[in-house]
Amino acid sequence: MARAPEPREQWSTKLGLILAMAGNAVGLGNFLRFPTQAAENGGGAFMIPYMVAMLIIAIPLMWTEWAIGRYGGARNHGTTPAIFKLLWEHPLAKYIGVLGLFIPFVVLCYYIYIESWTLGYAFFSLFGMLPHPDPSLPQDQYLKPFEEFLQDYTKPSVVAYIFFLVTVAFNGYILYRGIRGGIEKFAKIAMPTLFILALILMVRVILIETPNGTAVQGLNFLWYPDLSQLTNPKVWLAAAGQVFFTLSLGFGAIITYASYIKKDEDVVASGLSAASLNELAEVILGGSIAIPAAVAFFGVANAQAVAQSGAFNLAFVSLPAIFSNLTGGEIIGFIWFFLLFFAGATSSVAISVPIIAFLEDEFKLSRKVAVTATIVFMFLVSQVPIFMPKALDEMDFWAGTFLVVLFALLEVIIFFWIFGGERAWEEINRGGLFKVPKFYFYILKYVTPLSLFAILATWSVTKLPTILLTEDIEVWVARFIMVFILVLLLFMVFLADKRKNGENPSS
Ligand code: ALA
Repeated sequence: MARAPEPREQWSTKLGLILAMAGNAVGLGNFLRFPTQAAENGGGAFMIPYMVAMLIIAIPLMWTEWAIGRYGGARNHGTTPAIFKLLWEHPLAKYIGVLGLFIPFVVLCYYIYIESWTLGYAFFSLFGMLPHPDPSLPQDQYLKPFEEFLQDYTKPSVVAYIFFLVTVAFNGYILYRGIRGGIEKFAKIAMPTLFILALILMVRVILIETPNGTAVQGLNFLWYPDLSQLTNPKVWLAAAGQVFFTLSLGFGAIITYASYIKKDEDVVASGLSAASLNELAEVILGGSIAIPAAVAFFGVANAQAVAQSGAFNLAFVSLPAIFSNLTGGEIIGFIWFFLLFFAGATSSVAISVPIIAFLEDEFKLSRKVAVTATIVFMFLVSQVPIFMPKALDEMDFWAGTFLVVLFALLEVIIFFWIFGGERAWEEINRGGLFKVPKFYFYILKYVTPLSLFAILATWSVTKLPTILLTEDIEVWVARFIMVFILVLLLFMVFLADKRKNGENPSS
């Protein structure tokens, strides 16, 4: 006898929903990617394209994703293959929606590995296992043991692999417990903890003063507006890329989280609240820790090189090196890495949910089976980025950078142009604590898609030729795996649709 399907879960409180959505957004991007991007792209001047991208791309897209998700959830679907089919009665719609499964899954397979480094480093910091070189050594010699430690760790070492397993188990445990009992509860603990830890760290960093410089000089360095950079298209693209990454737009993850919202609950104010928490964590906290600490310790002249050495170096080499030289450095280092771990974990559970929801909604699998299948598959695929660093970069370019923008463009076209501008507008505003100002209607209909198209066109001309011509074997392995995942997901979408038509031939 067929079992009656379980009703879809819903967030239990508005606060829980906002914290979970903020957790979805606040991640490694806020504390590592943002400060390095800002320092490399004009400092204070970076904030101008950043704010513009926020207003004309990110905020409107965020409302779109919340509204699309709530629309689907009210009809028992939480992922884009089925939701796009509801919005657009065309056989292609469900296959376009496959990107809302592919993108978060591929990102998950490398993101969770990086997240596991933060757990490992939190442990090493706490137990004083990181190097302690003589602080009077010249900068390059002082940093060397930290660089070697990172290299040995990420080979990967057995210890790194163990922390990876622990991180996977931790994520799996939260996901097993479901939306309310797992993700929402975790967000209610992790988000306030994360903000408190970041505040403690920020205060400690502001007090750093060495013969080379002070943290206040670091803030001046980060926020000095180099206005000449504003004519550089690279800076505008970097800003657009950052708002996408930090708010987890185009990942499919917001849509799935939003599918667990009640039918007529506000999305306008809640969406803005979650995005504001993310911005607070990014601009105020993220901007006040890593770069100011680096300037205070290495001096302004050397900090540029530190920022240019990339987000990983900043997090796992420069900062442990700085903290190791402070009184109570073990605890400060622990706070830094534990903060990153919580930031990463609230995002990695979010990008795991689309595939789980797809298996639950479309194949009626129980949550436990859906979570197990997702974790096992993720574990297998993640071996590729774990053992092949260039494969990780390739997956990050396609899934985490290029396709998120393409997918966001498709979302806006399907929602605003095919489903219909007026209907989409009404969907966004329904139940809203306030209405979105009308000029946003025109932004969403014209400005957002045109901006996304411009970004994609520029990337296609400037980045794609070099990327496509790479001959590295690791890159090709990554491509092969990604194509395999895409084909598998397309097949599953086909099966899900067939199954549904079998159940309900008129649909
Ligand atoms: N939004 C997530 C981050 O910033 C992916 O890390």
